[in-house]
Amino acid sequence: MGGVQWEREPVRLTRAGHGPEVHDHVAAVCADTVSGVELVSGRLVLRPASESDLDFYVEMRNRPEILSRADHEPKPRSQVERQLHRWIDRWQEHGFGTWTVFHRESDERRGRVELDPMGAGWGGISPGEIEVGLIVHPTHWNRGIATEAAGLVAVDCFTRVGLDRLVALTTSDNKASLRTLEKLGMRHRGETQYASDPTTYDVFELARPAPRP
Ligand SMILES: CC(C)(COP(=O)(O)OP(=O)(O)OC[C@H]1O[C@@H](n2cnc3c(N)ncnc32)[C@H](O)[C@@H]1OP(=O)(O)O)[C@@H](O)C(=O)NCCC(=O)NCCS
Repeated sequence: MGGVQWEREPVRLTRAGHGPEVHDHVAAVCADTVSGVELVSGRLVLRPASESDLDFYVEMRNRPEILSRADHEPKPRSQVERQLHRWIDRWQEHGFGTWTVFHRESDERRGRVELDPMGAGWGGISPGEIEVGLIVHPTHWNRGIATEAAGLVAVDCFTRVGLDRLVALTTSDNKASLRTLEKLGMRHRGETQYASDPTTYDVFELARPAPRP
């Protein structure tokens, strides 16, 4: 298991909505409150979720491949819209949040990555721990998009945001997710359940890499 090559290519961070200016130094975008931070890799650009993403999220959320997952009922547009507003607001509250993943060359949307506090009710997990969540549009699965996008978000989380670790939850039948977390270098930490939900989730963890000697 190789894991993401953290230092292979510097992440470029830009302030969302502030034009093409690119900062090479993470410190340049540190702020008490941010309305969003863009993350750029060779193939992808991650932009803070915005209202213009609504059509994409409604369509992706109601794709047959997503609905066929055990816990997913169709979601009407109004519900997806409410969720999108919560994602947008989270940036103001925490200084991190939800990114929409775009293909750089075509500028087409590919998926979503989010950082979200776990909250109370999870066995063995502190409410303040931060979860990374991933979804890629099914027409683009298995092309490395989730791994690349989550790698960017992890770097942002360990540098600009300053967190020490990330967690991710999945179920043992979600082979694509398990493989993605493995490729990210995440370590299996145990299992958890939420309050009265009988589903058992595997918990994975990624710690901030130690600085090079
Ligand atoms: C999980 C998910 C985000 C992965 O996105 P992705 O862009 O396809 O991920 P990547 O291409 O980076 O990696 C997927 C890996 O899983 C592997 N994989 C896919 N289906 C698999 C299966 N049934 N069994 C084993 N491995 C599988 C792929 O081959 C690939 O590994 P490889 O690069 O070694 O070949 C995507 O499948 C998805 O959106 N699923 C629905 C939402 C979800 O389950 N989110 C995860 C919650 S933590």
